[in-house]
Amino acid sequence: MHRFLGAREAGYVTMLTLVPEDVNPNAGAQTLSETSIEFTNVEYRISGRASPPILSGVSLKIHHGETIALLGRSGSGKTTMLKLINRLRTCSSGDLLVENQPVRDWNVIRLRRRIGYVIQEVGLFPHFTIEQNVCLVPGLENWPTERIKSRFAEVMQLIGLNPAEYAGKYPRELSGGQRQRIGVARALAADPAILLMDEPFGALDPVTRAELQREFLTLSRKVSKTTVLVTHDLREALLLATRVILLDAGRIVAEASPGDFLSLDQKVARDFIAASELVAGATQ
Ligand SMILES: Nc1ncnc2c1ncn2[C@@H]1O[C@H](COP(=O)(O)OP(=O)(O)O)[C@@H](O)[C@H]1O
Ligand SMILES: [Mg+2]
Repeated sequence: MHRFLGAREAGYVTMLTLVPEDVNPNAGAQTLSETSIEFTNVEYRISGRASPPILSGVSLKIHHGETIALLGRSGSGKTTMLKLINRLRTCSSGDLLVENQPVRDWNVIRLRRRIGYVIQEVGLFPHFTIEQNVCLVPGLENWPTERIKSRFAEVMQLIGLNPAEYAGKYPRELSGGQRQRIGVARALAADPAILLMDEPFGALDPVTRAELQREFLTLSRKVSKTTVLVTHDLREALLLATRVILLDAGRIVAEASPGDFLSLDQKVARDFIAASELVAGATQ
């Protein structure tokens, strides 16, 4: 696991060091053969607007089993990239394939059921029990009742919550961290091929966030999904991803393994790292 060690010099926080032996154990562990998602020269612009495109020249091949972190400051286009994958947005030009098929050719319902989507505010239905929330997609897919029940128990165990204890509870009875775990369980319930996570741990307190990040690492080793994780947090990207993609103003400006990212010499990457160091230092 990566840790940042802040050091104060002459009253200023100046250093942030990655402990080298703590390299992401996921890195390079998968057999990265088949392509799961492929962007080729993708542009996205709001139609009818003369303003610059929100994404441009985006080319990225994501292999089965990879955990990609889309890293970048607010407004750089990270969420838009995720939304193109599950067709909440449509590319203005270029090609986007999901499992070798153009996203526009997918039946949109089938596409979304192949994709688990975890967002910051979870979006659990308040009047549904935890079991009803988690089992939403298997229910829509008409799985037999027994299979739904056993899948519920399975995913709850994966995220470390007792199925019997939580089945009948309502979202409001859970803590923020527990609700976020339920969001992950729901995304995994129908065993999707792809997991999209948009700042999933962003709204949690630092201790709970660190706990869920550790759990995510364990989980991602168990389930080995293709995962695209959006974050503006450098530390989180280095900890969780097998490959880090840096976005700036709608373009991919750098790409590296977590082990190599801090040694990138492109100015835009150095600036991002330097800004992250200041933020990490300020919270020491
Ligand atoms: N529907 C929209 N209408 C107008 N601007 C939008 C819309 N969606 C996104 N944007 C703009 O696109 C840029 C990228 O947004 P987004 O992908 O949400 O960034 P990020 O997730 O990196 O913070 C931002 O400048 C945002 O204001
Ligand atoms: Mg966003």
